[in-house]
Amino acid sequence: LSKIEIKLSDIPEGKNMTFKWRGKPLFVRHRTEKEIATEADVNLAELRDPQHDKDRVQNPTWVIVIGVCTHLGCVPIANAGEYGGYYCPCHGSHYDASGRIRKGPAPLNLEVPYYEFPDDDTVIVG
Ligand code: FES
Repeated sequence: LSKIEIKLSDIPEGKNMTFKWRGKPLFVRHRTEKEIATEADVNLAELRDPQHDKDRVQNPTWVIVIGVCTHLGCVPIANAGEYGGYYCPCHGSHYDASGRIRKGPAPLNLEVPYYEFPDDDTVIVG
């Protein structure tokens, strides 16, 4: 299937759910207020792949990224690592709760796919 439709109210605040989309893991994360505030405040000068959080999300509550580490393609673990976002156990890459690479060998942020919110409870990716 080239598109996937996800019901957002099934994902509790603070949780990341993994879906399969075009043969890859797709992460949909329901961020907490604290995560939203923390990621909005990150100084871009600290980032290896500088991107403001607002350029990675359409709605600050929802982070939607491809769950493939940009180092060598392992699947990172959610809510782990030193930045509280994702941690890739293969070689130790730490991503923040915007999916941005913060530490370890991965060169780039987790990829943001094309998506739309047709209504408040639905996202369509693809
Ligand atoms: Fe993720 Fe190497 S594949 S750190």
